[in-house]
Amino acid sequence: MEVKKLRLNNFRNFSEYEIKPGEGVNVIYGDNARGKTNIIEAIWLFTGAKSFRTNKDSELIKNGESYARTELEYNLKGRINKSSIIFGEKKSVEINGVKSVGGGDLVGRFTCAVFTPMHMDIVKGCPGDRRRFLDTSICQINSGYLKILKEYMRVLAQRNALLKDIQYESALLEQLDVWDMRLCDYATKIREERQKYIDKISKESEKIYEGISGGREKLEIIYRPGLDFSEDAETQIAKARANDIKYGTTTVGPHRDDIEINLKGISARSYGSQGQQRSCALSLKLAESAMLKEETGSSPVILLDDVMSELDRGRREYILKRLGENQVFVTCCDRPEDYADISERAELKSFYLGEK
Ligand SMILES: Nc1ncnc2c1ncn2[C@@H]1O[C@H](COP(=O)(O)OP(=O)(O)OP(=O)(O)O)[C@@H](O)[C@H]1O
Ligand SMILES: [Mg+2]
Repeated sequence: MEVKKLRLNNFRNFSEYEIKPGEGVNVIYGDNARGKTNIIEAIWLFTGAKSFRTNKDSELIKNGESYARTELEYNLKGRINKSSIIFGEKKSVEINGVKSVGGGDLVGRFTCAVFTPMHMDIVKGCPGDRRRFLDTSICQINSGYLKILKEYMRVLAQRNALLKDIQYESALLEQLDVWDMRLCDYATKIREERQKYIDKISKESEKIYEGISGGREKLEIIYRPGLDFSEDAETQIAKARANDIKYGTTTVGPHRDDIEINLKGISARSYGSQGQQRSCALSLKLAESAMLKEETGSSPVILLDDVMSELDRGRREYILKRLGENQVFVTCCDRPEDYADISERAELKSFYLGEK
C-alpha cells in the first residue's frame, strides 16, 4: 500500500500543502516547528480519523479557520483509492465518492504503523501504556476484540462499585457471584487473545531486535498476566475475594496485565540506554507492522517521526533495509542525503519544509 498524494487545507500550520510521495523512503526534513509531525499525523488520520497526539479535533484546524480538510490518494493492490476528511463542527469523511459522518468508515482500509517519541511509553511508561499498545494492535487485526474489552471494563466497573457498597451493606455479598462469573468469562477471553498476540509479536520483535543490534543483544518479551496460568481464573478470583472486599476494588484480572521487556535478561525500562530503549520500542512497532501485513495481505505504510536521531548508523541501516517492501515516511532535521547512502533504495524522495 502506498500514499500517492496528500493534500492539506487549513490543517494545523498549513493553509495549503500537497505532496506526491515516492514508493520507497520519503524523508520530510526541515527545522523545528515547520510541520513535519503534522504531516505524519495527517497521514495517520486516514486509519480512522483519530489523532495519536490529541483527542480534540479542533486542534487540527488551523488557528482562525473554521474547518480543516485532508485528502489522501493511495494505491491498494493496484487500485487507486481516494479519501477525504473534513474537521469542522462535525467530522465527516468521503471514501471513493461516498460520504459519511464520523470516522468509523475509514477503519480497516488504509493501514499504517506509526512510531513517534510518544511511543517510547511502550518501554518507559507504566503497565497501562503497554496494555494500550497491546489492545490497539490487537484491535487492528481482530474486529471482535474491542467488544470483549469494552464488556470487561463495564463488568469490572460494576463489580468495583458493588465491592465498595458491600463494605457498608454486607447483604449485597450474594450479588457478587454473578459478577464474578461474568468477569471470569471476559477475563479469560482477553487473556487468551493477548497471550496469542504476544506469542507472535515476541518472536517477530526478538528477531528484529537481533538485526537492529547486529546480533549483540537479545530482546525478550514476556507476558505477565494479572491472572496467571498456574490456576484457573475462577479459583484466582475466588481467592482474591477477601482482599477485593477489603480494598473495595478488583485486585486480579487483565486490567493488571503487563509485558516485561528485557535486554540480556534485565529490564530495558530500568537499565536500558536511550538507544536501546528506542530500539526495543521500534522492534515492537516493526513487528506490529509485520503482523498487520500477515493479516491484511498488504504492506502497511510506515511513519517514523524523529526516530532515527538517536540511533547509530548500523541500526538505521538495518531498519531501512528491513522496511524494503514498505513505503516509509521519516522526519528529521538533518540533511536527507544522509539517508540516501544508507537506504540503498533508488526510490528515495525528500521534501523540505522551509520558511513560510
Ligand atoms: N491548529 C494549529 N494552527 C496553527 N498552527 C498550528 C496548529 N497546531 C500546531 N501548529 C503549529 O505547528 C507547528 C508544529 O508543527 P510540528 O509539530 O509538525 O513541527 P515539527 O516540524 O515536527 O517540529 P520538531 O522538529 O520540533 O518536531 C508549531 O509551530 C505549532 O504552533
Ligand atoms: Mg516533530
